[in-house]
Amino acid sequence: MKTMITLALAMMLSTALSAAQYTKKERLEDMRAMTNALGHMQKTLVGQCKTCLYKGAEELVLALRALDSVDVEDYLPKEQASAHKFATKTAKSIKVYTKAMVKAYDEKDYFEAIDMYGLILNQCASCHMRVRDWNK
Ligand code: HEC
Repeated sequence: MKTMITLALAMMLSTALSAAQYTKKERLEDMRAMTNALGHMQKTLVGQCKTCLYKGAEELVLALRALDSVDVEDYLPKEQASAHKFATKTAKSIKVYTKAMVKAYDEKDYFEAIDMYGLILNQCASCHMRVRDWNK
């Protein structure tokens, strides 16, 4: 029992720490990294670079920590607190679409890959329209 409490405390502490360590500056950097990742993917989709899609997909999934591995509730104002679930859900969808995009490209289903790219972009835009002014 004692071990379990210690464990739970340790876990709570580490969550608190990681949230505290992930600064606004880092979040903006990850947002910019996501934008660069989209640029890399697009190079492949317009036929300019064969492997950029893979590079972009990796970069994008990595930078999603801006949305899913950090407790966004920490920096959200109260009226936007529900955006926490929204952010995690969005990160999950972006991951699914990214995987589907790579698969479609590998199967030479280029229009499907472009559709998936569009769905990723929609996720970015719909959040920006909804909560861009959080933590101004
Ligand atoms: C769940 C919400 C959410 C999603 C999804 C999201 N963003 Fe953002 N984004 C934000 C918020 C909030 C800010 C402003 C951050 C701040 O001021 O702390 C921002 C800022 C940015 C910025 C501005 C960075 C700067 O230097 O000022 C870029 C670029 C950006 N996002 C790109 C993207 C891209 C690309 C995607 C999709 C792959 C994306 N974002 C998905 C919420 C989101």
